[in-house]
Amino acid sequence: MTRVISLINQKGGVGKSTCAINIGAALNEAGKRVLLIDNDPQSCLTRSMGTDEDDQVEATLLNIFECYLQEERDCEKPGERMQLEPTAPIIQYFRGMDYIPCELGTAMLEVRLHALPGKEGILRRYIDTIKDRYDYILIDCAPSLGIMSLNALTASDSMIIPIQPGKYSTDGLNQLMGIVRQVRCVANPELFIEGILISMIDGRVGCQKRIVEDVREKWGKYMFNVMIPDNAKINEASASCRTIIEHFPKGPGAQAYREVVKEIFAHEKAREKAKREAMKRYE
Ligand SMILES: Nc1ncnc2c1ncn2[C@@H]1O[C@H](COP(=O)(O)OP(=O)(O)OP(=O)(O)O)[C@@H](O)[C@H]1O
Ligand SMILES: [Mg+2]
Repeated sequence: MTRVISLINQKGGVGKSTCAINIGAALNEAGKRVLLIDNDPQSCLTRSMGTDEDDQVEATLLNIFECYLQEERDCEKPGERMQLEPTAPIIQYFRGMDYIPCELGTAMLEVRLHALPGKEGILRRYIDTIKDRYDYILIDCAPSLGIMSLNALTASDSMIIPIQPGKYSTDGLNQLMGIVRQVRCVANPELFIEGILISMIDGRVGCQKRIVEDVREKWGKYMFNVMIPDNAKINEASASCRTIIEHFPKGPGAQAYREVVKEIFAHEKAREKAKREAMKRYE
């Protein structure tokens, strides 16, 4: 079964895009079919995958939403006919990892979608049409909690919240959890928190250890056990449009992302077991 996971945190620069690419690569290495969706008009993921602004790409996130808006205009009763066909090809990247790029114009969608009924369910409708081609779909969100991020959460089975250990690293978490509760109530009751992931830890910095202890004390039940090291090779990999799995497969960075994947698999097994047990109780 396909699993859709959003990488989300309204704080900027905490490692969302880097985690999306490298968790995707580690899933791919584990034999899974992966699609990455860039849901951020800054297009960092798109650029890290080697697409630049002048490339002619059909299946951008903007085009997918434009297709929906066009249908809304053509439709007599708005909101009724919302079948999005996966007509445009999805870019093939590297050994089975596909991605849907994003462009700057996507930023305007926040305004254009504002008054539209069902606006938070558009991405979900699109994903439903292509879902069965993949085992995992990872959505890299922008540092905001606007309509595009709501679309990501509505389309997702779960979410990963990357955080960077710093004085204010958990400031926005309460607000984000509030949004999660809203999305669960209104659109997606099954949205699961895959985990809070420390995305850049420097073990040599004493205050970071203290901050991580504080975060664990407060948010421990949601946290991944593994932490991604603050590692120059990870930075180098993004700068050269490669994943860390390609760039330095034996290093601690690649290993940490593989551990994240193992935890994701373990969560999945635990959920399946809980479901089976719940079914038994009703039999
Ligand atoms: N584990 C890491 N070690 C070293 N550098 C990292 C690591 N993770 C991310 N970076 C670097 O930190 C910077 C910010 O990362 P990234 O772009 O993934 O954050 P983001 O949360 O997606 O940012 P934004 O909110 O702007 O989308 C990038 O230069 C990236 O290469
Ligand atoms: Mg990003």
